Amino acid sequence: MTVLKTLISVVVIAIVALLIFVYSGVYNVAADEPHLSVIRWAMETTRSNSVKRRDDSVTLPADWNSLQRVEQGAKSYAAMCQICHLAPGVEPTAIHKGLNPRPPRLSEEMSHHSPENLFWIVKHGIKMTGMPAWGVSHNDEELWGIVAFLKKLPEVSAQEYKAMSQSTSSGHGQDHGHSSSK
Ligand code: HEC
Repeated sequence: MTVLKTLISVVVIAIVALLIFVYSGVYNVAADEPHLSVIRWAMETTRSNSVKRRDDSVTLPADWNSLQRVEQGAKSYAAMCQICHLAPGVEPTAIHKGLNPRPPRLSEEMSHHSPENLFWIVKHGIKMTGMPAWGVSHNDEELWGIVAFLKKLPEVSAQEYKAMSQSTSSGHGQDHGHSSSK
């Protein structure tokens, strides 16, 4: 019985401490204040395990990395992602510099993500980071184009990026916010 009582008191004290923390305003929410490394670790580990647990439900289309998808994805990337994640030859934007966590330069970060993993992140977004859920406003076809382009991105030079993102050979890829077909 004493064990149970002690356990209950510990839980009650923890809840009260949490409420004091939440209501007192001692925690600094300023985005220009870096996260403690332990908070950053907790955020990143929670996120990567959460996505790994869920991306099994994603089915890779047979032609997921066709040239046509890469070309379409480059234009979508320029319209939807470049402002935060930059691109080869693109200078840091105010949004890139001001967000916390700072959106990574995706041209440097793609090797450890599978296409399914990337698709899940792009479609559903990441809570509490500023990474939007693009599946709310874009259909899976367009998102697969972006994934195809992301896997190609580390090899793309500044000159190639300029040509790919601006070419007008196909009419797709602008951020026109068409409705999702999910
Ligand atoms: C408003 C800014 C913003 C826009 C626009 C945006 N993102 Fe993000 N993205 C973020 C932030 C912030 C993170 C989280 C960074 C962190 O926690 O390190 C993120 C994370 C990611 C990650 C995970 C990176 C990793 O290494 O784990 C991927 C992949 C990603 N974004 C892809 C995209 C794609 C593709 C687009 C365009 C369709 C896009 N993002 C548009 C802000 C943005």
